[in-house]
Amino acid sequence: MTAQLQGASDAALQEAFDAVIARHDRIEPRDWMPEAYRKTLVRQIAQHAHSEIIGMQPEGNWIGRAPSLRRKAILLAKVQDEAGHGLYLYAACETLGVSRDELVELLLAGKQKYSSIFNYPTLSYADVGTIGWLVDGAAICNQVPLCRTSYGPYGRAMIRICKEESFHQRQGYELLATMVRGTDEQRAMVQESVDRFWWPSLMMFGPPDTDSPNSAQSMAWGIKRNSNDELRQKFVDMTVPQADALGVTLPDPALRWNAARGHYDFGPPDWDEFAAVIRGDGPCNAQRIAHRRAAHDEGSWVREAATAFAARTER
Ligand SMILES: [Fe+2]
Ligand SMILES: [Fe+2]
Repeated sequence: MTAQLQGASDAALQEAFDAVIARHDRIEPRDWMPEAYRKTLVRQIAQHAHSEIIGMQPEGNWIGRAPSLRRKAILLAKVQDEAGHGLYLYAACETLGVSRDELVELLLAGKQKYSSIFNYPTLSYADVGTIGWLVDGAAICNQVPLCRTSYGPYGRAMIRICKEESFHQRQGYELLATMVRGTDEQRAMVQESVDRFWWPSLMMFGPPDTDSPNSAQSMAWGIKRNSNDELRQKFVDMTVPQADALGVTLPDPALRWNAARGHYDFGPPDWDEFAAVIRGDGPCNAQRIAHRRAAHDEGSWVREAATAFAARTER
């Protein structure tokens, strides 16, 4: 093909892509897409997949110490769901031409990120409830709009994931609602846990819009549907009445209803702390990656056996 013809066909491909985005339709794996779109998706979906897998650790910490068989069964199911979410998302990412092995390597080498929230420790069983309520709650606010994301495999994975995340949020709320009906000590445990997780939950939406350089392009591509600040506001508006119903105080003196805006006003999270956690200096960053690396190494015989079995079955 001459350079001129190539140029003309590239323009036609770009035009077809733009038309799909403009009518809010889906881009599928075999469709042409701009390289920057593909790269952005790989980064975002991988980061999301890693978050699901690393996110198993803070709660997994309590499976062996659940206060009853019922709580243990619920927590086990929840943590297993997160493993499943990781798998759907790695599979969605593989449709963009990267392998799961490569993505795992990038995570272990610290070259791809996961959500900052999972670098905080879980210090009491109330944290299981708070994570379900606030962390899965924030995840739902982030993820429901992603069900309409422009990349087909990602959007379809998100539809399944969101159904399970709403179960996670309810189980967290139900655990806290049970604890606040208990002893003074249990109520104090819930409040202490909410005090620790409130601000990191707000940070899950990412930096303020004025400080989020890639957001505009992601929104233009239909990968992202709402800005960080819009989603953070939505989460606060949804959560304050739930906190009132539980009888817990959210640790923000600036939090109050603004009738003129029709939203709650709230104070800014500590963005220096957020930057430190992203940089790797959060309370549990090193521990999370060391644990994941050990689990990956210890699981190598399973991967080898599964590969050998698949090869033999094929023969
Ligand atoms: Fe999840
Ligand atoms: Fe979840």
